[in-house]
Amino acid sequence: MTAQTMEELVSLCKRRGFLFQSNDIYGGIKGLYDYGPMGVEFKNNLKQAWWKSMVYERDDTEGLDASILSSPVVLKHSGHEDTFTDPLVDCRACKSRWRADQLFENNRCPNCKSEDLTEPRPFNLMFKTAIGPVDDGSSFAYLRPETCQQIFTNFKNILDSTSRTVPFGIAQMGKAFRNEITPRNFIFRVREFEQMELEFFVKPGTDDEWHEYWINKRIEWWVNQGIKKENLKKIEVEKNELAHYSKRTVDINYVFPHGEEELEGVANRTDFDLGSHTKNQNDFKITSEVMKNSSSTTKLAVQDLEEKKWYIPYVIEPSAGVDRGVLALLNEAYREENVDNDNKRILLSLKPHLSPIKAAVIPLKKNNEELVNLSKEIKSNLQKLGLGRVVLENSGNIGKNYRRHDEIGTPICLTVDFETLEDKSVTVRDRDTMKQERVSIENLSEYYKKYFN
Ligand code: GAP
Repeated sequence: MTAQTMEELVSLCKRRGFLFQSNDIYGGIKGLYDYGPMGVEFKNNLKQAWWKSMVYERDDTEGLDASILSSPVVLKHSGHEDTFTDPLVDCRACKSRWRADQLFENNRCPNCKSEDLTEPRPFNLMFKTAIGPVDDGSSFAYLRPETCQQIFTNFKNILDSTSRTVPFGIAQMGKAFRNEITPRNFIFRVREFEQMELEFFVKPGTDDEWHEYWINKRIEWWVNQGIKKENLKKIEVEKNELAHYSKRTVDINYVFPHGEEELEGVANRTDFDLGSHTKNQNDFKITSEVMKNSSSTTKLAVQDLEEKKWYIPYVIEPSAGVDRGVLALLNEAYREENVDNDNKRILLSLKPHLSPIKAAVIPLKKNNEELVNLSKEIKSNLQKLGLGRVVLENSGNIGKNYRRHDEIGTPICLTVDFETLEDKSVTVRDRDTMKQERVSIENLSEYYKKYFN
């Protein structure tokens, strides 16, 4: 079972501290959200899982964390200054603004239903900001609209500082910004979000095969995070809808509560980006339509040692949205169950490695020194194992604690009771089955580690 509506998720997220509307106390700003105490843990766990699979578990990738403020020259040569636009229409009647391709009722304003709309015109989605102390428009930067451009501009730095040869990839996670005309569907379409992107550089001619490899790899990864395979769809992007850099893109769509939409895109960007940012482009036979006359001082190419020729690698790019991942996984984990006396139990059946809290240690009686001290010791020992956040709950209300931890997806709760003082064991309650068992404190670390592996 998943959530039935987006409202169920929004309500859970606010109630339990996953997500809040940004600038809430001043009325909020559309398209911006803040991750609360549970949200930040969950999001970090998801990013960590991605990094582990993209960097630590591979032998052909490196990581990067580049600046967000981007030079206009980079975004000129990437094509964003000229083409990163959405078609904007104004409603002359109520003065609202819409994306022309998202007017669901044939050219009517979604707000006031008027048909008195302007012709669509391109609206650039990039945010601009002044650089330095003088704000006279002469020196500015963009907030990056995708994380990958600085991967391309650092291509040579990374080649020179490591011993990589093609095929290899560069991974980066971090913020991206788009001035979306109509942000909507909670954190699905927002103006400030995070991406997890890998640019995988390959020899031209091997690109189609690597593209297939990454499409399958990425679907497998989402399934390992807890998304049912049948809720993921592979969608071939139509030729006329491809981004300016793409030869072929396959979207991995997910059935969100508001409908099926893109969770991640896997594109074959060809030699477009490295070619556009390369010095003396004319030295290369660049196959895509690139911006000519690059002012770059660097040749972003590699040498084919057998053929003794320089070439610009092709790029396969799996690009996933962190926030869309958070939304999809929360939706996928959401359960409602009837328990005794027709009471409703809400739980998040998250995979343990993603759960914001790994275990809660609960002394049966609030402020009982012996129970609390022993609970603190157990909490501290589990925390030291380094598998994520463990909390001590000293409110004394076991029922309420179980309910709260079910809703935030804590896999196990450990209760320290008076019997514990005698038999040196605790009660471990499983979130999904609600089954309880006694585990000796001596064996707790092993039990806990096995649980998370
Ligand atoms: N570098 C390629 C690129 O940026 P994209 O399809 O525009 O491609 C990649 O974005 C991913 O970033 C999307 O699949 C989506 O998950 C996420 N994303 C894009 N725009 C977003 C937005 N406004 N809000 C939330 N996530 C977004």
